[in-house]
Amino acid sequence: MRNVELKARDPDPARTLERALALGAEDMGEIRQRDTYFAGARGRLKLREQETGGSPLWDELIEYSRADSTDARTSTYLRVPVADAPTLRDALEAAYGTLVTVTKRRRLLRWEGVRIHLDEVDGLGSYLELEAVADPDSDLTAEHQKVERLRAELGIEDANLVATSYSDLLLRESGDRRSAEELLGAADAVMRNAFAPYSQFAVGAALRAEDGSIHAGANVENASYPQGQCAETSAIGALHAAGHTRIVEVAVVADRMDFCPPCGGCRQRLAEFASPGTPVHLGRPGGPVRTTTVGELLPLAFDLEPPG
Ligand code: THU
Repeated sequence: MRNVELKARDPDPARTLERALALGAEDMGEIRQRDTYFAGARGRLKLREQETGGSPLWDELIEYSRADSTDARTSTYLRVPVADAPTLRDALEAAYGTLVTVTKRRRLLRWEGVRIHLDEVDGLGSYLELEAVADPDSDLTAEHQKVERLRAELGIEDANLVATSYSDLLLRESGDRRSAEELLGAADAVMRNAFAPYSQFAVGAALRAEDGSIHAGANVENASYPQGQCAETSAIGALHAAGHTRIVEVAVVADRMDFCPPCGGCRQRLAEFASPGTPVHLGRPGGPVRTTTVGELLPLAFDLEPPG
């Protein structure tokens, strides 16, 4: 089987539903799906367990492969009906291990042979998928045309197109969370070594270099107050002392403030070695975290070579 597919974030699912219905799409109702992705597969292998309105649908084992691209793309797949999904899940889990589980509520609509999925994905949010199922002998021109037409009618913007699968998005999210926690942990640990007898305000900062290594520093104050140095500045010194120059991720922890934003001077110092998109995590390990970016903290950062 082959599909032509498009996936996008959906900032306004209610409007999308309204537009799809106005086009004459048939509403097939809502399905709850749990996809378990197994490790060790050459392509992707997932077990889909699903129900609609409390009544079970056929569970299936799905093998598929697809290129990661924001363009409408072709995927090939095999679907195998499964009579005893829990036992198959246990067997595959034991043999290969589970990579990730994707749970979602899917509103399914159909328009001229194209499946429209309005998905609420646990941990990710609202997404929209278009899938034109191809006839075996089709050259896919008609399928691409239908997907393009629907894309225009539903107002799907380029900026919202998504190239990867829900499973990859979730894996990336959990990787990002782990990375932030690790950096916050390092900032918290080094904060214990702050020298802040004058302000009583201890701060720790941790920076990740391009090779993944972590470099941390705390604030070091002085009896002549203006001679004190911020945690971020200490950490930048440590990063350079270790032979690195680029910062790819930042964390700042303060014991007396839930979210301690870097001071203006440190924003400029960070901007020197980071990119506008470099994430900055403010908070504590295990606690609520606010993630912003160097560019959000310091728009129009000073640079000797100003942008053209
Ligand atoms: N401080 C930092 O180390 N980083 C910041 O981002 C804000 C402020 C320090 C400087 C001083 O030692 C103390 O916090 C109180 O201002």
